[in-house]
Amino acid sequence: MHDLYSDTKTKPTRAMREAMLDAPVGDEQKFEDPTTIALEERVADLMGKEAAIFLPSGTMCNQIAVHLHTRPGDEIICDRTCHIVNSEAGGASAFSGVAPRLLDGVNGVYQPDQVVEAIRPRSRYIPRSSLLCAEQTANMGGGRVWPVETLIAVAETAKEAGLATHLDGARLLNAVVASGISARDHCAAYDSCWLDFTKGLGAPVGAVLAGSSDFIDSAWDLKQRTGGSMRQSGVIAAMCIHALDHHVDRLADDHKLAQHIAAEIVTMKGAGALLPVDTNIIIFDLTEDAPDAPALVECMKADGFVIGAFGPRRIRIVTHLDVDPAAGEALIAALRRHIG
Ligand SMILES: Cc1ncc(COP(=O)(O)O)c(C=O)c1O
Repeated sequence: MHDLYSDTKTKPTRAMREAMLDAPVGDEQKFEDPTTIALEERVADLMGKEAAIFLPSGTMCNQIAVHLHTRPGDEIICDRTCHIVNSEAGGASAFSGVAPRLLDGVNGVYQPDQVVEAIRPRSRYIPRSSLLCAEQTANMGGGRVWPVETLIAVAETAKEAGLATHLDGARLLNAVVASGISARDHCAAYDSCWLDFTKGLGAPVGAVLAGSSDFIDSAWDLKQRTGGSMRQSGVIAAMCIHALDHHVDRLADDHKLAQHIAAEIVTMKGAGALLPVDTNIIIFDLTEDAPDAPALVECMKADGFVIGAFGPRRIRIVTHLDVDPAAGEALIAALRRHIG
């Protein structure tokens, strides 16, 4: 079975597992785990921030950041399709008491004038706009890469009005590889930002949130309070370091394969609109004559491929470390059998 539902489906490689064996470890909660500290310092440097904290998941990075940048009753400005609003079990409302102010971006990318319009004037009758969130790449925008100047412009617009800024970088390194622009430049206008190791980078666990030393100090309080503090976390941090050493440049292979698959999909009779494919995510709609999305998912499963239905006629396919070009060709052939 080839699983192209998400890049979260990668399994740790043998070399990645071997990287765990000799990793020096200690009690992370006491800052005694040298491998975890090395990972945190490396990601802080990569993102151009003072400090960083290793967390079990990207969701926890987002939730801690939202909590630290806001007060209950505030609004956070973000795109309608973003992960924080749609896929974190209402965490921002439940843990931080904030409401989303949703923007209608194009493929997950919104513009500075939309931010200006969304920021609330100060009045005790009106919720306070306190945080702007952006997602690079935009997952439900088809892995869309924000042009870095837009990413900076929306953040600067928010900062001028006194808002904090947060970058969901679940797939930031896909954007870095696709654009050739450094992570540091992507993150420069953001107060907090993070990287996920369990997406295209292929690690089994872990994300790193970065920001100022004070911000990370406060993040430690929340990590502890919510039971996210670990002990000998170096065993998993070692796999994340391995991913940074070996799995970044190869993201270009995932992008190339996604673009090849997309180029074939648009020639199929049952394929309608396709979102632009900048990185490793392919999102397209099925025409009225084709099977609907759940039916296509079932047909593909019978052929040995897992793909995602994201709406009655919308399909998502994601390339990653465990999908080689031969699997890509077989996927194309299977899709062609079902949607022409
Ligand atoms: C854009 C985006 N943000 C955040 C997350 C959450 O990451 P995690 O699964 O590590 O909690 C995901 C996961 O798919 C994501 O796609």
